[in-house]
Amino acid sequence: MIFSEICPNFVGFFPIGDSFKQIVLKKIIITIDGYSSCGKSTLAKQLAKKLNYTYIDSGAMYRAITLYFIQNRIDWTSHQAVATALEDVHLDFVPNSLTGISEMYLNNENVEHLIREMIVAEKVSEVAAVKEVRDLAVAQQKKMGARKGIVMDGRDIGTVVFPHAELKIFMTADIAIRVQRRFKELYEKNKNITLEEVKQNLELRDYIDANREISPLRKAEDAIILDNSHLNLDDQLQLVMQWVEDAIMAHSS
Ligand code: DC
Repeated sequence: MIFSEICPNFVGFFPIGDSFKQIVLKKIIITIDGYSSCGKSTLAKQLAKKLNYTYIDSGAMYRAITLYFIQNRIDWTSHQAVATALEDVHLDFVPNSLTGISEMYLNNENVEHLIREMIVAEKVSEVAAVKEVRDLAVAQQKKMGARKGIVMDGRDIGTVVFPHAELKIFMTADIAIRVQRRFKELYEKNKNITLEEVKQNLELRDYIDANREISPLRKAEDAIILDNSHLNLDDQLQLVMQWVEDAIMAHSS
């Protein structure tokens, strides 16, 4: 049975043991957490497309806030300065009319490309460790999951944002492979970037994300580990779709 071809809330007869049972397929929440450059967003987008779910890149919110702080010279080591600045930060996800994929808007401006620049990558882990920043982002993320049918990737989605999500995935991959993947991505935009710079940035971000005081990156107890060091995208999707089908079946009635 291929659930990807069946709409959520589809009512059908499914083989259960020796007989068939009528089941309403419920929408679920899928969380994908893990280290930087493991391919979380690629998988999340594929799943959202197959299932007709909404994809939310929670890291984009931390990146957009970081961009705002850099542009407006906000000192993010000062709680007071952060609290005041955040009053003027308005974040939205707006679907791209061509791709259907949600893009990040900061105060009504599309910043989807700007937030991927190295200048933001270098500072985002520091900003994402600030309590006021996390409170704002997490509150908005929780609201987005209210109607289910969502795939959200990040660092604390299965542990803090949606601790009751029906399917939690924790992604990992060898550091050398992650560096290569990120380098290829960044090199397209900037031919001066070096492998060493990318490696240092990834290692530093992983360290800060996993060791910060508030909501550090860690695997939720009930998350399934997905190590994709040696998996191609098709095999990975096939494997995860099986987990999705199992989770949907387990939560449908
Ligand atoms: O997934 P990403 O690389 O775009 O995330 C950017 C940064 O934001 C990353 O260094 C960690 C932080 N982040 C976080 O702290 N919590 C999340 N849920 C998502 C991202």
